[in-house]
Amino acid sequence: MKPTLAFDVYGTLIDTHGLVSKIRKTAGDKAEEFSRIWRQKQLEYSFRRGLMQNYATFAVCTRNALDYTCDFCKVSFTVEQKEELLESYRTLPAFSDVEKSLEGLKASGFRIYAFSNGSSEAVEALLSAAGIRKHLLDVVSVDDLKSFKPNPAVYSHFLNKSGASGSSAWLISGNPFDVIGAVSAGMRAVWVKRSPEAIFDPWGIEPTLVVSSLAELDESISAYLVVKGIGDC
Ligand code: LAC
Repeated sequence: MKPTLAFDVYGTLIDTHGLVSKIRKTAGDKAEEFSRIWRQKQLEYSFRRGLMQNYATFAVCTRNALDYTCDFCKVSFTVEQKEELLESYRTLPAFSDVEKSLEGLKASGFRIYAFSNGSSEAVEALLSAAGIRKHLLDVVSVDDLKSFKPNPAVYSHFLNKSGASGSSAWLISGNPFDVIGAVSAGMRAVWVKRSPEAIFDPWGIEPTLVVSSLAELDESISAYLVVKGIGDC
């Protein structure tokens, strides 16, 4: 059997900076910084809520992070504009390499899942709007556990839901903290390093593989399995 692939959603399949042009209308040349800080805070809030065991959905982290970022960047969106941004966050675009790569991986026999901090409802809507839901077997959400990545329990939850074992399950993620979380929890993991400038956290826990585009996944994983002499899983 081919390996099971757990695709991270925000930052891997879906471009979290897809609203920059919308933000620019109000924030002007602060738009890129605004988008970056919004994303960083959203993740920080999820980490903190996980540690505090004070769960609220990822959408709440996104909303609270938007308020913080407006204050930090001194950008005054109206209440309506904020609601519009949050609504648009539900239909962020997929990266350009996603559709074709998922199609190819599915045709090669990989078992493909989405695995996300987002609630099932939000991720289903997001992937459907981006036209890629049809390539995935299922959506696994941390919301089932009321915690967030990188709690090891959420990676175990993915393994339980997909019926895969740690060594036959690969996390595919553009987020270094997610890759480190998955490897630390016993999965294999690919870091999708879309930008040559991206930096991996120097913790001594390395990705199993690094690719610069999802288009390289099939070949890279298959070659790894041959070299390791572990056939298809
Ligand atoms: C996700 C976060 C990591 O989709 O963005 O799980």
